[in-house]
Order: sequence, then C-alpha cells, then structure tokens
Amino acid sequence: MGFFCKQSVLLNFIFSLSALQTCVSGSVIARAADCHANSYKGPLNPSFENGIKDWKVISGNAFGDNSASSETSYWGGPFNKIGNSFLWGLLQSGEAAVGELHSSTFRASSFMSFLIGGGWGPEDLYVGLVSESDGKILYRQTATNDEAMIRIVWDTSAYAGQNVYVSVVDNSTATSWGHINLDDIRTGCDALIGEKGNHFNVLGQANQPIRSQSTLKPDQLFASDPIRPQFHYTPYQGWINDPAGLIEWKGKHQLFSQFNPVAPLWGPMHMAHADSSDAVHWRELPVAMYPPYVQDPLDTSGRFTGSAVLDNSTGGIHFIFTDATDVSRHPGKLPEVQSSALSTDGINFDFYSGNPIIAAPPPRSGNGWRDPKVFHDTTDNTWKMVVGSGEGATGNVQLYVATDEKLLSWKYIGVLTEGTGSTGGMWECPNFFPIGDKWVLFYGGNSLGFWEVGTYDGTKFTSEKVGLLDAGPDSYAMQWYKDSAGRNLAIAWMGNWPTSKWPSRVNGWAGTQSITRELFIRADGGLGSKPIKEVSSLANGPAKALGAKNVHGTISVGSTNTARLQVTVDLATSNAPGFTIFMHKSNVEQVTLYYSVKNQTLTLDTTNAGYGQAGTWNAVVAKSPDNKLSLDIFIDRSSVEVFAGDGTAMTATVFPRYQESTAVNIESVGGKTVFDSITLTPFGSTWS
Ligand SMILES: *[C@@H]1O[C@H](CO)[C@@H](O)[C@H](O)[C@H]1NC(C)=O
Ligand SMILES: *[C@@H]1O[C@H](CO)[C@@H](O)[C@H](O)[C@H]1NC(C)=O
Ligand SMILES: *[C@@H]1O[C@H](CO)[C@@H](O)[C@H](O)[C@H]1NC(C)=O
Repeated sequence: MGFFCKQSVLLNFIFSLSALQTCVSGSVIARAADCHANSYKGPLNPSFENGIKDWKVISGNAFGDNSASSETSYWGGPFNKIGNSFLWGLLQSGEAAVGELHSSTFRASSFMSFLIGGGWGPEDLYVGLVSESDGKILYRQTATNDEAMIRIVWDTSAYAGQNVYVSVVDNSTATSWGHINLDDIRTGCDALIGEKGNHFNVLGQANQPIRSQSTLKPDQLFASDPIRPQFHYTPYQGWINDPAGLIEWKGKHQLFSQFNPVAPLWGPMHMAHADSSDAVHWRELPVAMYPPYVQDPLDTSGRFTGSAVLDNSTGGIHFIFTDATDVSRHPGKLPEVQSSALSTDGINFDFYSGNPIIAAPPPRSGNGWRDPKVFHDTTDNTWKMVVGSGEGATGNVQLYVATDEKLLSWKYIGVLTEGTGSTGGMWECPNFFPIGDKWVLFYGGNSLGFWEVGTYDGTKFTSEKVGLLDAGPDSYAMQWYKDSAGRNLAIAWMGNWPTSKWPSRVNGWAGTQSITRELFIRADGGLGSKPIKEVSSLANGPAKALGAKNVHGTISVGSTNTARLQVTVDLATSNAPGFTIFMHKSNVEQVTLYYSVKNQTLTLDTTNAGYGQAGTWNAVVAKSPDNKLSLDIFIDRSSVEVFAGDGTAMTATVFPRYQESTAVNIESVGGKTVFDSITLTPFGSTWS
C-alpha cells in the first residue's frame, strides 16, 4: 500500500469515500473512521508550554533553556503558535548553530500532527518521528523558509502502540533559515481536529505520492494534494516562477516556466515545459533547458525568462532568453547576457553555438538587463526586442532591432521608455505589442505589474495611461502572446517576491500559473483582462444557477473549492451599500470579496483565510453603461482569481487550513442587492 492510500483515508475522513477507488483495503477505512482505536498519550510537554522541560538536548547548542518563545508574531505575520509558547529554533544560539533535541518516549497513536516552521532543508532541518527500538526515522518533515508554522499530519497507524520519540534536527550551519520551529504535537483523533471541530487539511511531504513510484495518472497525482490548484498549472515538485516562451506552435500553446526541480525554492533556473491544444488543459513535457552548471545546485547560474518565436528556416521554436551567471562563482563574467536556443521537434532545445547573441548591456542598465521579449513591429515591418532594465531609481525598457532573418543578430536602438521612479528602479519582464491603433507596454516593477497604453513611432513609446495588471497580492511577471486566432493572450505567475508565504513547500512544491487571460483595451482606454472562453471546457458537472435573486442577509451558493462563480448585479435596483462574496469559508476562516457601491471598489480580504499572505487589497471598478457589475471568479483549492467586467483582475493565493473551508456564500447587509444571475460551475482538472 502506497502513500496515496494512506492519504486518501485522511482526505476522506469527513467527506466522501470516492477517492478510495484506488485503494482496495477495507481495513484502511475502518482504521481512519475510528482514530481513537489506537490513541495513546503523546510526548510530555508537547506544546513547549513549560519551556523545553521533558525534552532532551542530544547534541550541539542550537537548543537549550532559551529555545521556547511566547512571541505571537514576527516581521512577516503571526507565528501561528498554539497556547502561550513554542520552540523558536533561533533563540538559543542563532541561525548557524546546530543541535538535536528529543522528546520523551511515547507510544505511537493512529495519527499524529504538529506545527512546523523555519528553514527548508530535508536533509539537515527537520522534525522526525523515530522508532525507539532501532533508531529508525519513520517520518520526517522540513519547513518552508518562513517563521510561520504550518500543520503537518502523519498517519502513524502502522506503528501504533510502538515506542517512538520526536527528534528535532538542526544540522544546518546556514546563517539564513538555518533553524527549525515546532509547536503543538497532537496524537490520535486530536491530531486531525482543530478549532471548532474543523478538520486540518492533510499536509506534509509524507502524504505526497512519490511520482516515480506512483502508477497514478497525472490528474489523480495532482489531485492527491488538498491545497494544490486543479485547473491551474503547478509543478508536481519543485519551484516555478515566471511563465516564458509563450507561443502557439503547430496548433499547440507552449508554456515554459522558470523552474527549480530540486527544491520548492528559487535556485538554478531550468525551463519547465508544457503544451496544450486549448490553453486550458496542459500536458507536461520534458525540461526544455537546464542551467549551465546543473551538477552544482549551489551555483545559481541559470536560464532566465525569455520569449519564443517561430523559426522560419526550420519551422521550429526559437527561444531567446537571458543567460544569467552567478558572478559570486564566476567572477569576471557578466551577470546577464541574451542567448538563443532552437527546437525543431518542440521538445529538445539546442543552444546556439554563437551565444550570446547580445553580449554586453547597453547604457542605462546598471540595475539589470533581462527578460527579452521579441515582437513584430508593424510600424516598420521589422523584428524587435524589448529587454527589462533600469538605472538608479528609474526602470526602463531597452529596444533592439534584428539585423538578420534568423533573429540572431541584433542592433541596439535605445531606451524605448523610462519610468519616473514610482514604478521601481528595475523593470522586469517587459512586453510590447499593438492593440488596434494603440501600443501596450507592461512590465514588473516595485513588485507590481504595470501596464501603460500609448503611442509608438518605431523607436519611442509615449505613455497616455498607466494602471495595474492585477490588483491582488499574487500576480507578477505576466507574459503576452498572440494566438493563431489573433487574440492577445497572457499568463501570469500567481506569486510575487515580497511575500514569504509559500506554505505548499511542506508538500514539496511552490508556484502556480494563472489561467490564460485575454487582453483588451477597456472602455476607458486602459488595459483589461478576462478569462479566455475555453476555460468553460473545465466544467465537470452541471452548473448551479440560482437565477435572478434579491439578496437580503446571507445566502449559500454552494460548497466547493474547485469552481467558477459568475455573478451579475443590477446596481440600479440594488439599495444595499455593498455586498460580500465569501469563499474558502468555514466557521473559522474565509476569503472575502466586498463591493462598495459608493466607492465602486472591490476589496479582497485574506486576513483570516489560511496560511497564505494576509491582507486587504482594493481595486476601483469602472461603472458600466447599463449599471451592471459582473464578476467572474475562479476558486481553485488554494487560490482565488477574480475578473470584473471592466477588465480588472485580482489574484490571491490563500491555502486554507481546514477541509471544511469550502463554503461559497453571498451576503448583503443594510439593504437588498439585486442579482440578475448567480452561477456556480464545478471545475475539473487541467491534467485530464
Ligand atoms: C550533520 O552534518 C555533518 C556535516 O555535514 C555530517 O557529517 C553529519 O553526519 C550530520 N549529522 C546528522 C545527524 O545528520
Ligand atoms: C517568417 O515568415 C513570415 C511569412 O513570410 C513572415 O511574415 C515573418 O516575418 C517571418 N518571421 C521572421 C522571424 O522573419
Ligand atoms: C470608501 O472610501 C472612503 C474614502 O476613501 C473610505 O474612508 C471608506 O473606508 C471606503 N469604504 C469602503 C467600504 O471601501
């Protein structure tokens, strides 16, 4: 019996038993349904309420009498501690210290859970469960490079009744994230049940099927993790950030992603690859590009974001990207140059022997010079390239023109446009293209995505209007491409740099790509986005349509965490000051989206939504001529992606703590809100 069976039991403990089809053992169900059967007392002082009393320092000086803390929060938010104190691994002797701490011996129960935080390091920073008789490590779990603690659940039923102890191992001398935090060890049924009787989501690396040993199909494999989005692209294990190389090639949409397969952390950048016939259902393909020093994981030289064009001479995919060098390891080399790779089969990429194709940075690029995006310039019928850059406090976009048909020789033109400082000193991931008689520029700066709409004369862009690509906390590095139907499409990374919240690292992965969006010029002349129409093919069951409805107080729309919610509100006949949509909701946590009629604003609130970034974010929604407000919302296990009818987008990752956090409710307070329609459609997997 594999990991998946164990996990199915936990996942289905309170809900249906349908996923157990892949498990054949009936006794497994019996065991989970009766978690008290093998319930014994856990270790002494399991929540460090008495300092480290009853815990034993085995070696080193990382742990000691000063290890327990009663702090509630740190610079990035709450620790998520339970009770008054917890084990804060850096208090005793700092980050670099090493040591090992053991709990008292106890008898393993049916289940066990605990809170873990601190550094990521499966080999040298972990909490383990050790069999006392032979010293064998039965389970181990590392943290997330975040102080905030996350609940891990282990099915210990195979060891029930045996003597075990908890071992806290800090064998990391790292001066950053070289410590481990621990709190609230629970055993038996208590291990599964938290506040107000809610059931913890079953998280932890031990619950993730090992892909190479699994016979599960991709959709089953990706479904086995309760906080993994189902219809958004994620890496099964490892880290992704920017989408890159977007192109429709031979009828298939190509999605490449910045990728580190060895850890759920940024590192030596590979280029992951997937393709799709509808830009909605993805198929994983082999890694397209490896970093130059792949044998050395500490060398962060890598293949950074770039763009793809059709290679006319071979019919292949020509990928132009930034070759980044870790200059701490390779002194004297330039940190960033622009390079070329070609694939004729759409899978294997060969680096051009004449790389780099642009060997040295232009003026005004002191802060960086990366993320080339090639485009066809309709003003003079040339092929051009924009590259993100900046100098001092000012970000800019550098412009080049191809001087050969193979797009291997490039001539510098100059700075296409430059910021004023308010959008950051380094613009990343620039994209530049025409829509109608306007030109659109967008880029990342100051950890936000900005668009600008204006005019262009072949060398200079003149901005007329500026705005945000996405008003939520988790969107960056969007990339544009034009499909064969002539639509302007884009995919964004559902993540961003200032957040330290990557809770899915406990399950071995981090990073999600947005659904494919279609870009358009809004009524007010700004840049808008909306989901592509093909997303409707993700529906995997009948839509629940509530029809026209006057809402007073609260109504329940449904209970799901993998769905699309579409509403249209008639603002003319509504008299409430606003309304709220609740998602990922239980009686202890929720995401809220509030619309204020007076302010014409949407406020997304994740303050009490789970393990993700807590906060509130606002967006002004332009009034439509018919005074209707439409919202198209994608709810996907750990995220919400909101599109308003005017083209506003708001994206947040949330990572609910509890299995019950699936309610979708609508509330109108202080009057009625008139809905023309409310439709909730269950969505399936991007991998099926
Ligand atoms: C700790 O790290 C050292 C040096 O890397 C290694 O020799 C030792 O075996 C490690 N100890 C444990 C308990 O993993
Ligand atoms: C490839 O050929 C097409 C058709 O002739 C042309 O429109 C396009 O500009 C060419 N692409 C490049 C990169 O030269
Ligand atoms: C509406 O805007 C005012 C003024 O900026 C602000 O004080 C108020 O909190 C806003 N209300 C809502 C519900 O957004």
